[in-house]
Amino acid sequence: MRVQVAIVGAGPSGLLLGQLLQRAGIDALIIERRSAEYVLGRIRAGVLEQGTVDLLGRAGVGERVAREGLVHDGFDVLFGGQRHRVNLSALTGRHVVVYGQTEVTRDLMDARLSAGASTIYDAADVSVHDFDADHPRVRFRVDGAAHEVACDFIAGCDGFHGVCRQSVPADALRQFERVYPFGWLGVLSDTPPVSHELIYVNSPRGFALCSMRSPTRSRYYVQCSLSENVDEWPDSRFWTELKARLDPATAGGLVTGPSIEKSIAPLRSFVAEPMRFGRLFLAGDAAHIVPPTGAKGLNLAASDVHYLSSALVEFYQSGSRAGLDAYSARALARVWQAERFSWWMTHLLHELPEGGAFSARVQRAELEYLVASQAARTALAENYVGLPY
Ligand code: PHB
Repeated sequence: MRVQVAIVGAGPSGLLLGQLLQRAGIDALIIERRSAEYVLGRIRAGVLEQGTVDLLGRAGVGERVAREGLVHDGFDVLFGGQRHRVNLSALTGRHVVVYGQTEVTRDLMDARLSAGASTIYDAADVSVHDFDADHPRVRFRVDGAAHEVACDFIAGCDGFHGVCRQSVPADALRQFERVYPFGWLGVLSDTPPVSHELIYVNSPRGFALCSMRSPTRSRYYVQCSLSENVDEWPDSRFWTELKARLDPATAGGLVTGPSIEKSIAPLRSFVAEPMRFGRLFLAGDAAHIVPPTGAKGLNLAASDVHYLSSALVEFYQSGSRAGLDAYSARALARVWQAERFSWWMTHLLHELPEGGAFSARVQRAELEYLVASQAARTALAENYVGLPY
């Protein structure tokens, strides 16, 4: 079997890339280790930058997000018992859209299906070969039978634990990492959100976040220690802890109900450089991870895919390799902006177990500076809505 581009991974990066290539008449096959149901069952981020929404539109999947996505012109930061609004629209002229990653994935899967493009799910033993030469190949098994796909390029969209980055020789790769000494315990529930906008909470008991997926579905998080287990968090304990981190008025308005999903996620910052090795290109979580505090993960995956799809289209239309050669540097410039912002926002809002009293006071000063200074709020807002591509 032979295709122009073999895409490893059918998460949002791989699906979005597949969709943009398909629309440009480029033949791409997606190979995914898991089932479609498994991919759709992963509950992830929910905040889209306008640039990401625009890219979904260019990929032909902008209809439902335009109809059902919730436009957010601002969010609140709660500390010292008071909520302070960050007015994104007034400060930057831009907004964000709340629309779950699960929905983005579903829209892309549906579009791929109706375009008749092929995705191989449940592929076992996926491996990538000869990407340092002119004829790369991807091998995998389906129902025990071995398959090999020859291609011009491989797109590694297979996430942090995927095989693509791990197949690059260690001496060709530089990795930068920070693991935070805490996690997020997240709950999804069919209850109306406590506020029509997100609330990021800094409290002496730790960080919390009030988010949503729709007017009837809420997503809440509390900072927890890494040694904790979800089994130790029955719903009643979660709601009590969340309320204890909110101001009394907000806590009083919180509608609780049974959780429909509950999980603990560690927080990590990670970047692998470069993002290209010969004919293998990494995109999304395969190349970088941000802590979720800045809501940047999915948006960064989208910006990688924007650069990569443009480069591939340029190559197939004109024969020019300029975009392919520039891919890694272009993507990484944006990645490091998001890494810096996500790292900063994580330190701004969490209880820092290793920081001690000094860093707690510095954190408080930083929060007060945000309230006092429009320039400080503008810097936050500009990064949150996303820097231009
Ligand atoms: C979410 O709704 O899951 C969410 C929102 C904002 C974040 C992180 C997660 O910064």
